[in-house]
Amino acid sequence: MPVINVTVNGTRYEENVPERLLLVDFLREQLALTGTHVGCTYEGVCGACTIHLDGEAVKSCLMLAVQADGHAITTIEGLGGNTLSPLQQAFTDNHSLQCGFCTPGILMNMSDFLRDNPDPSDDEIRRGLVGNLCRCTGYVHIVRAVREAARAMREQN
Ligand code: FES
Ligand code: FES
Repeated sequence: MPVINVTVNGTRYEENVPERLLLVDFLREQLALTGTHVGCTYEGVCGACTIHLDGEAVKSCLMLAVQADGHAITTIEGLGGNTLSPLQQAFTDNHSLQCGFCTPGILMNMSDFLRDNPDPSDDEIRRGLVGNLCRCTGYVHIVRAVREAARAMREQN
């Protein structure tokens, strides 16, 4: 079984992994980081499994754990640290959470999105969310939260 070295949320791990183990299953089952969700049949359509790999949002069901060897991963557990990030706070303030199943993936995707585009229009936010399926909502509260988070982050900088 291959050995991989990964840094996840700032902690280094050296782990034996089956060659065909998906990254999302490695995070959930081997590291017990269950905030990364599986919302489709591992086919990249729901976005619930989104994490950051070296700072970029990726769907962890579309990668093997061995492909993460040598890389740095952030999961939802590592996004805010000890406090809520502005994006997490905006989701709370705007009632954007609902059942919460899709929320970790959306937060990971949108935090990367806002780094690249700190002042997005609502249309740009909707386009950015195209890879995240939410079964609870028409996305109105989610778009509002991302817009407010963008404003709060610009004011901080
Ligand atoms: S579980 Fe990865 S996109 Fe659905
Ligand atoms: S909040 Fe329930 S699936 Fe999105």
